[in-house]
Amino acid sequence: MIKAISHLGVAVKNLKEAREFYRSVFGLESSEPIIGGGGTVRVSMVELENVTVELLEPVGSAGPINKFLEKRGEGIQHVCYEVDDINAEIGSLKAKGIEALGEPAPGAEGLSAFLHPKGTHGVLVELVQKE
Ligand code: CO
Repeated sequence: MIKAISHLGVAVKNLKEAREFYRSVFGLESSEPIIGGGGTVRVSMVELENVTVELLEPVGSAGPINKFLEKRGEGIQHVCYEVDDINAEIGSLKAKGIEALGEPAPGAEGLSAFLHPKGTHGVLVELVQKE
């Protein structure tokens, strides 16, 4: 069962500038950047009361964030929903004909998996089972 929005993934061209924008304009601090996505993305989290904003900057010329920036420019790249049991959720979605992009894998917040946007009305959906 989907319980809540866990985070919004926002693609940015320059993480340093984006973090400075969130700090100076919105008054929001963000976490020290870490490398994720198998080395293709640099990530920093802005924690709010009920949701987190995940700032995503591409590393190198490969990877999904780079592709997204080329196609669409900066903006919301994915929505992440929290679930209780990711394997059960993916199984039930697959039974409904929804395409998952790979198997659940460890990420910043726990086990996560993505759903192809063509099956979800255009939204790249991430599901996470928090640790
Ligand atoms: Co995410």
